[in-house]
Amino acid sequence: MNRFLDLADFSRDEVKDLLGLAARLQSHPDPQALAGKVLGLLFLNPSLRTLASFQSGMMRLGGSVFVVTPGQGTWQLETRNGAVMNGAAAEHVREAVPVLASYCDAIGIRMFAEGKNLEADMTETQFKMMADLCNKPLVNMESAMNHPCQALADWYTMDELKVPERGKFVLSWVNHPRALPLAVPSATVHMAALRGMEVVVLRPEGYALPAPIMEKARQAAVSSGGSLRETTDRGEALAGAHVIYAKEWGSPLHYGNSEAEAKLRGNLGDWCVTDSWFKTAAPGSHFMHCLPVRRNVAVADEVLDGPRSVVVREAYNRMVVQMAVLYKMFRSNSGQSRGRRS
Ligand code: CP
Repeated sequence: MNRFLDLADFSRDEVKDLLGLAARLQSHPDPQALAGKVLGLLFLNPSLRTLASFQSGMMRLGGSVFVVTPGQGTWQLETRNGAVMNGAAAEHVREAVPVLASYCDAIGIRMFAEGKNLEADMTETQFKMMADLCNKPLVNMESAMNHPCQALADWYTMDELKVPERGKFVLSWVNHPRALPLAVPSATVHMAALRGMEVVVLRPEGYALPAPIMEKARQAAVSSGGSLRETTDRGEALAGAHVIYAKEWGSPLHYGNSEAEAKLRGNLGDWCVTDSWFKTAAPGSHFMHCLPVRRNVAVADEVLDGPRSVVVREAYNRMVVQMAVLYKMFRSNSGQSRGRRS
């Protein structure tokens, strides 16, 4: 495997193999597997889990890591092609990325959506530009429209919890003080569809996920024997749910227009998950969220502190599955991998 950019680059069986490798490394640690290897991590946006879990996972496999967060002890980086660099940024990614790549054996990059132009963000213009600058194995640590490491960890978590593969998975929009990117909902809806689940996207008017995101997930559902639909009817969506996965995202109708978006969101304060959301859920249902989460805005304390919440487990499993990704990337980088972009 040379690149881990999108779960859609792998078949369902390939994902299951990767999850099997994660389980094996979890039960049978291999502390020298990546001795002598160096992983570089470039964060153009903040993180807690991704930052810590990649470092911890790499060290648990015997490898080494360096982290670069531009503007925090390193030069601020310019990302715009053709920019006249007379502002704060002292260095362009066109030099910085190849330089960093030359110091390591694989690199992870986090670069969120610009949030100005939906079409540009949908086509991953920025992340593709960064990927083209990098001649080393590359991991997507969250781009404009994808978060494959989160999706993989969430699949692993559901397997651990024995959530039925044909179970009902409700991805619900929840409230947030500002419009957040589409990366996690996009990756999540695809992941659950590829797992073969009955996927329901629950959201208020104006928050439908863009058609290409739904279409990509629909194709995954067809290939896996699952299904996908969306609704604004909370009662209907939550009935019989095995998993309620909450996520905040901005309205695609007002992409890049924070004022209009805030107005639309103004009366949606009741889109905060409470225990009452689970009244008609399946017995033993679970609550999931990728974190970070705003307590009592997106999700009530009673849910996050209650027995249904598996959010800390999901975060722990980020490390578990990323160890498998790194292991496969470093150890089987000789053509055995069947990832379609490998
Ligand atoms: N879920 C997730 O990616 O968390 P961080 O933004 O803290 O890395």
